[in-house]
Amino acid sequence: MNWQTSLWEDREGLSRAAAAELARIAKAAVASRGRFDLGLAGGHTPQGMYEILAAEYRDKIDWSRTHLFWGDERYVSGEDSLSNYRMARESLIDPLGIPPENVHPLPTTFADPGDAAREYEQTLRAHFGMEGPRFDLLLLGIGPEGHTASLFPGSPALAENERWVVPVRVQAQPPLRLTLTLPAINAARAVFFLAAGADKRPILSKLLNLGPDGSAEYPASLVRPQGSVTLFLDRAARP
Ligand code: 6PG
Repeated sequence: MNWQTSLWEDREGLSRAAAAELARIAKAAVASRGRFDLGLAGGHTPQGMYEILAAEYRDKIDWSRTHLFWGDERYVSGEDSLSNYRMARESLIDPLGIPPENVHPLPTTFADPGDAAREYEQTLRAHFGMEGPRFDLLLLGIGPEGHTASLFPGSPALAENERWVVPVRVQAQPPLRLTLTLPAINAARAVFFLAAGADKRPILSKLLNLGPDGSAEYPASLVRPQGSVTLFLDRAARP
């Protein structure tokens, strides 16, 4: 894979480095387009980065011009401890007082998750226009079997090349989720993968030894945006 890699001693180091690079991208985006469109990752790894942004970047990023989206969401209440939105609300959004009109969580209150996916596509269309989402920066994690967002190996969603958001059932808890599809992910101007800890070493060893086209066996390897991909990892995760 032709990913740039940014290796740090530990989780905090990679979080600090990713936050600093995010701030650089944010400043450039606001300067050139008047806003910064950021896609957030779920899971545990990004939380430290969000906390650093809240604690140290209040005045270094124009949060009034920053719009937050998510790469995926578990289909649970926004108050559920498993909610990616809740994690970001507690670690980033509430501490910084980011305006609610700038925060665009995936809806999880529709009886039919397909309706929720269509609703989020409308949200994306209203913000980005008909050509589809173009995040200035999309943050993503990597699961131990190579999933990213909620695109898991063998998922029919991997073949989706029209829709930007789909519901999926995955082999993880909770099983029902909404996820951006590869067309939506790969329209990003820049992607950061965040990976920390020894449990990510095996999958990173596989991913970093794949050819430039990646493999559907490892969905994270299919993230090949028009922009750059940077893997922020710590020494424990380094193959
Ligand atoms: C989710 C994430 C998922 C996550 C990876 C890595 O909703 O769980 O979108 O793709 O990024 O599973 O998770 P960790 O950061 O917890 O290892």
